[in-house]
Amino acid sequence: MTLDGRVAIITGASRGIGFGIAERLATLGMRVALNDVSPSVVEAAAKITNAGGRAIGIRGDVTSRRDVQAMFDTVESELGPLWLLVNNAGVIPTGPTADMPEEAWDLALAVDLKGVFLCSQAAIQRMIPRGQGRIVNLSSIAGVIVRTGQIGYCTAKAGVNHFTRCLAIEVAPHGITVNAIVPGMTRTDMLINSFAARGLNLDDMLGMIPTGRFAEPVDHAALVEWFASDAARQVTGQLVCVDGGQSQLMPLIVAKPAT
Ligand SMILES: NC(=O)c1ccc[n+]([C@@H]2O[C@H](COP(=O)([O-])OP(=O)(O)OC[C@H]3O[C@@H](n4cnc5c(N)ncnc54)[C@H](O)[C@@H]3O)[C@@H](O)[C@H]2O)c1
Repeated sequence: MTLDGRVAIITGASRGIGFGIAERLATLGMRVALNDVSPSVVEAAAKITNAGGRAIGIRGDVTSRRDVQAMFDTVESELGPLWLLVNNAGVIPTGPTADMPEEAWDLALAVDLKGVFLCSQAAIQRMIPRGQGRIVNLSSIAGVIVRTGQIGYCTAKAGVNHFTRCLAIEVAPHGITVNAIVPGMTRTDMLINSFAARGLNLDDMLGMIPTGRFAEPVDHAALVEWFASDAARQVTGQLVCVDGGQSQLMPLIVAKPAT
């Protein structure tokens, strides 16, 4: 069996990694629903349709149970039974923990972790009765190794990693697999804006990546394609780093003691 004609929802897909995944899945013949809190998701879906793909754009907030349930209902009535959910929507509040507003912590946990729960719950409610389905979560190496100044994001992504393993085992008897892609630095607006906010030059970061290049959305899309395929039916609860080896490298920096 191929992915041709099967249905996928990709959250946070108006740009960046999510849009790259949607584009790739559409070229394989999948019917793709692009979700985003931004209204530009409608234009993003139109780009795929104009290129000959089957796509719809749905504006909605993954932190809202009402939006999530409405989105899944719309997708199934317009495109058909859901095969694949890609939990990709994310935000990255940045700043020292001592000064972090409570709202920034809440936002990171709401979008990056609760959103994954709400969308996964809506997906498995529909997949369990059919005995099949796939979920792929976009985590981050910031949930595996330590990055300072983004404590809500890092904590939420560590939560996504364990959520992936726990849900995978719970739904395995129902023919559903749950895996996570763990991206390293990927050239998108999120990366560019978060480094600019910290006054860091993007190209100075290249030395931290053993392959000497940033990831691109297509690198993650290739793995989503494989996790979604029948070839990967026995693979579940796995976290796969797509980071050019960055999370394996011990950087030669000396921690300065607080004065
Ligand atoms: N770019 C990187 O270097 C990198 C590295 C590791 C992990 N990731 C992860 O990959 C995923 C995609 O990242 P990206 O770089 O494409 O980011 P991005 O900021 O370019 O895109 C994220 C999208 O999520 C949407 N979004 C935010 N809040 C939402 C909400 N409440 N409901 C629905 N949509 C919402 C945004 O509008 C945006 O379109 C994120 O989960 C991110 O944490 C990215």
